[in-house]
Amino acid sequence: MSAPPSSDESLATLDRELARGLDLVARASSVEDVEDAQTSLFGRKAPFAVVERALGSLPEDERRRVGQRTNEVRARLKAAITERRQALESERETAVLELDRIDVTLPGRRLRAGSLHPLTIVQQEIVEIFTRMGYRVVEGPEVEDEWHNFDALNIQPDHPARTMMDTTYLSVPGHPELLLRAHTSPMQIRTMQAEPPPVYVVVPGRVFRNEAITAKNMPVFHQVEGLAVDKGIRFSDLKGTVESFLRELLGADLRVRMTPSFFPFVEPGAQFDVSCFVCGGSGCKTCAFVGWIETMGAGMVHPRVLENVGYNPERYTGFAFGMGYDRLAMIRFGIPDIRILWESDVRFLEQFEGVG
Ligand code: PHE
Repeated sequence: MSAPPSSDESLATLDRELARGLDLVARASSVEDVEDAQTSLFGRKAPFAVVERALGSLPEDERRRVGQRTNEVRARLKAAITERRQALESERETAVLELDRIDVTLPGRRLRAGSLHPLTIVQQEIVEIFTRMGYRVVEGPEVEDEWHNFDALNIQPDHPARTMMDTTYLSVPGHPELLLRAHTSPMQIRTMQAEPPPVYVVVPGRVFRNEAITAKNMPVFHQVEGLAVDKGIRFSDLKGTVESFLRELLGADLRVRMTPSFFPFVEPGAQFDVSCFVCGGSGCKTCAFVGWIETMGAGMVHPRVLENVGYNPERYTGFAFGMGYDRLAMIRFGIPDIRILWESDVRFLEQFEGVG
């Protein structure tokens, strides 16, 4: 180890360190630089430490002189370090704040509420009217089998609806009978199979038919099925229920017309039309100038259908109806082309914000 420095050497070192330190601190451009400078000035091996350690070996009066100078230099450097560190810290803070800055005077961004699809709006309205009448809502599978979709509904094997021209069959190995349901009526069967009478249900859902895509038709559309089976249900109950439903959905001053129709799973069968709610019945494009709009097929549940699910047709009677609501939604909202319902074009959908 070399000999301790003399007091002159120490004083010279202190001057050099003061100058070097002030320069280092001034040039520090980050808090880390300041910390490096501090280590370099006051670390255990720094010249400053050597001077401090040598103080003890100096004669008394020199020790006081050099000691005093040591304190001065230390104080000045520490003050410079503290000051520089604070300046850099506040600079850093300002920069961070600047990055995160929020201009509270800017106009706010409007929260988009989103919207229900027009089909959902109409479906909810339909279902809501029936639930108020005491009906339950049930949903069923879109992939069905021939028995539920046709046979149990008394639709004979040679019925044209069963051909591949009309119905979409699925080719699933081991399940030759699977198809996409062509109506919601198979849920009549499933509901009655699952529980004993009385039964009051509505069934909204997608149905599938092998149709070309046009402005008016899609191979996928929507129906709501209704089924009421109980003791003593009569044809007049069907008429009253459907009439009050249609007036509630489409307008109290509507005229409702019931005409005979045929479906293999009802007897007698009927069709319900309403006076055109666009022109009031005088004839317009919407009603194809006939003044009436078809709304649904309906009828009294065929005794053979009741037998197929194990209900006793001598004790129970019921009615069923099935209505497509894509067209209702189109008329209601003035939608000219059914394909728009499937395009998910935001410019179309956002027009329904707040509706429903
Ligand atoms: N399922 C029939 C159809 O899709 C409608 C219907 C339902 C008719 C219930 C009568 C009773 O056309």
